Amino acid sequence: MKNITFQNGDQMPLLGLGTWKSEEGELYKAIREAIHIGYRHFDCAARYENEAEVGQALSDAIQAGDVQREDLWITSKLWNNKHKKEDVGIGLSDTLKDLQIDYIDLFLMHWPIALPPHIIFPANGSEFLSLDEVPLSETWQAMEKFVDDGSCKNIGVSNFSISKIKAMDDYARLPPACNQVEMHPMLQQQDLVDFCQQKNIAMTAYSPLGSLDRPARLKKEAEPMLLEHPVIDEIAKRRDCTPAQVLISWSIHRGVAVIPKSTNPKRLKENFAAQDVPLAQEDMDAIAQLDKGFRFIDGTFWTVEGSPYTLQELWD
Ligand code: A2P
Repeated sequence: MKNITFQNGDQMPLLGLGTWKSEEGELYKAIREAIHIGYRHFDCAARYENEAEVGQALSDAIQAGDVQREDLWITSKLWNNKHKKEDVGIGLSDTLKDLQIDYIDLFLMHWPIALPPHIIFPANGSEFLSLDEVPLSETWQAMEKFVDDGSCKNIGVSNFSISKIKAMDDYARLPPACNQVEMHPMLQQQDLVDFCQQKNIAMTAYSPLGSLDRPARLKKEAEPMLLEHPVIDEIAKRRDCTPAQVLISWSIHRGVAVIPKSTNPKRLKENFAAQDVPLAQEDMDAIAQLDKGFRFIDGTFWTVEGSPYTLQELWD
């Protein structure tokens, strides 16, 4: 298994299993199966509202002797309504309890967006807190304390732009260990990858297959079909692999961790095998041409009328 080495020497497997959108009941079986296949990196979040099911599967796998805790890499994310300094610890302890673990390998700030504690997802523009009311520095500094007490091995961010990471220089005692963002051939973000790699900030790509199972409210009309793109398909045929494997292998070749979601045993296996799919420079060059700066998860749900957030500031 290929790893990415963090600033503190910790090693995160470059290929992990995404758990967003996994159906209740399916997820438990998928995690147990994934561990048998060889997955050791699991990407979770409080917001996915399924960490208890992940935790039960991990705990049962450890009990059964399938894997040991220290061989697992578990990532989770602090939801937006736990950004106030007094709430960060509550978010972390809920996650640790649900996942049935006493430390997390990587804890990320899920979005640079703050919500009041009683709002899980805003229904209108009045159900937000602005970054003046709860600055990112307040949330980050509260997260740093949980590295000090050992409950987080690493902390990082998600959906952060270059400029938001640069701004952390002014307030971060600990630099972010990782930035997790949407990334695939139609949203390559090469400048962000270069910036993070140069600063030794690991990157993880979410929605690497285009997240076709997103709820309809997160879909736009006429979205590009990543898995059916003729260039990806042609490379897959030539390399005797599947389009999904090309997409996963492309990320690994860039040194960017990747967390395709599946609950289907056949696809779990297929995706895991992608780390052994070789891509030549000519394949990487052909894929480099596909960038459109296209976001499947474009963040418009944070910019409803009356919200203190704008898309321009979000992706600045
Ligand atoms: P399923 O869970 O039924 O396998 P993303 O990782 O970008 O969020 O994409 C997840 C979506 O891609 C899910 O609908 C998942 O369905 C599907 N998927 C996962 N692996 C593959 C694969 N190897 N080939 C085609 N679709 C896949």
